[in-house]
Order: sequence, then structure tokens, then C-alpha cells
Amino acid sequence: MLNLVLFGPPGAGKGTQSEKLIQKYQLVHLSTGDLLRSQIAAGTELGLRAKSLMDQGLLVPDEVVIGMIENKLTENQQAPGFIFDGFPRTVKQAEALDTLLTLHGTGITTMVALVVDEEELIRRLLKRGETSGRPDDKDEATARRRVSVYNSETMPVAEHYAQQGKYAAISGIGTIDDIFELVCQKIQQAQLS
Ligand code: AP5
Ligand code: MG
Repeated sequence: MLNLVLFGPPGAGKGTQSEKLIQKYQLVHLSTGDLLRSQIAAGTELGLRAKSLMDQGLLVPDEVVIGMIENKLTENQQAPGFIFDGFPRTVKQAEALDTLLTLHGTGITTMVALVVDEEELIRRLLKRGETSGRPDDKDEATARRRVSVYNSETMPVAEHYAQQGKYAAISGIGTIDDIFELVCQKIQQAQLS
């Protein structure tokens, strides 16, 4: 199996690269942000609870996203692998993911981190906000809060996988195709090691 964590701050290009990766490797794409937004669109109780936190650029509780991932892993037992996008976002989520994958007889192949500086991230998010309709892309203060939450709560997840020898970083600045090539190289290296 190929189980990839695509890592990086808001606006780094995780969703953009995921679209290309799922075509090349036939992976199941698990984006907790997308899953939460579909709960909001469906008007579920979970969606209602998540919405105000997401709109402020804050994380939703660990147990909510861990539960969603657990369901998706169980639903997709025959998948050739998964691409985790926007998850895990805390060390607690990473530990839960490792445990779940072990129960399914598998594990993370590698984490690939997209490195992009804050000013470029803010530019991308505000630009996307002109058309995306995402409330968390609408104003600069919310975009900056998301980056700051990433720095304080999510960055330690990189160390979690680095300690397992499963961390690779690449620049997330450049053309989408060039970045895709670099991501694929890192996947190949991890599969060979
Ligand atoms: P989520 O949906 O995961 O958002 P995010 O991490 O903030 O990341 P984005 O989706 O904004 O960016 P991306 O890296 O996917 O970049 P994209 O490809 O779109 O999470 C939203 C919220 O949900 C969180 O704040 C939290 O509240 C909650 N949540 C989700 N998961 C959670 C979890 N696990 N735990 C707790 N809470 C959770 O690209 C961005 C833009 O840049 C696009 O317009 C794109 O066209 C453009 N772009 C892409 N690549 C390039 C390039 N190479 N050059 C120029 N522009 C580019
Ligand atoms: Mg995304």
C-alpha cells in the first residue's frame, strides 16, 4: 500500500497536488477539510459544531476528525492506498492515525511537506477567497490566524514522522507540474527504502 501524508500550511497546495496524485496512483483522497465542508453543506450537527471554529481559522476537536478518518478507512478497505491531506494536524491525531493504520495491517509510507513562506500563503488564500466562497479565505486576519495555528499546533507533526524516518520536504513554490514531479520523486524514494 502507498499511504502518503501531504503536509504543509494553509494554501501550500495540498489539495492541488492531491488531485494529480490520486490520478497517478489511484489513491483514495482523504481531506478532513473537504469532509468537514461537506458536513456543513449537508447541515449535519457535526457540521454545525465545526463551522464556527473553521470560520475563525481554529482547529476542530481531535476526536471529531479522528472519528471521520476511522470511518473512511473502514469504508475503503480495498483501496490501494490513501492520501491524507490536512490530517494529521496535531501530534494526537498522528498517534491515532498510526494506531488505526497498524490495526488495518499497514502504516504511513512517507510524509511529504510543501514549504511555502507566509506572505505567499496569504496571497494565495486571499486570491482563492475571491471565488472559493470559503469563509476562512475571506479576510487577511483569518488567513494569518490559520498560519499561526499551523505553526503552533501542526508543525510538531513533522517531527513525529521525522523521528520515524518518514519525512521529506520540498519547495511548494514553482509551477504545479514541477512541484508534482518533486512529490513523485519523494514517493519513489520512500517506496525504495
Ligand atoms: P483545510 O481544508 O485542510 O484547509 P488548509 O489546511 O487551511 O489548507 P487549504 O485547503 O486552504 O490549502 P491547500 O494546502 O489545500 O492549498 P490549495 O491546493 O487549495 O482545513 C480548513 C479548516 O478545517 C481548518 O482551518 C480547521 O478548522 C478544519 N480542519 C481540517 N482538518 C482538520 C484537522 N485534521 N484537525 C482539526 N481541524 C481541521 O492551494 C491554495 C491556492 O493556491 C489555490 O487557489 C491554488 O490554486 C493555489 N496554488 C496551488 N499551488 C500553487 C502554486 N504552485 N503556485 C501558485 N498558486 C498555487
Ligand atoms: Mg486544501
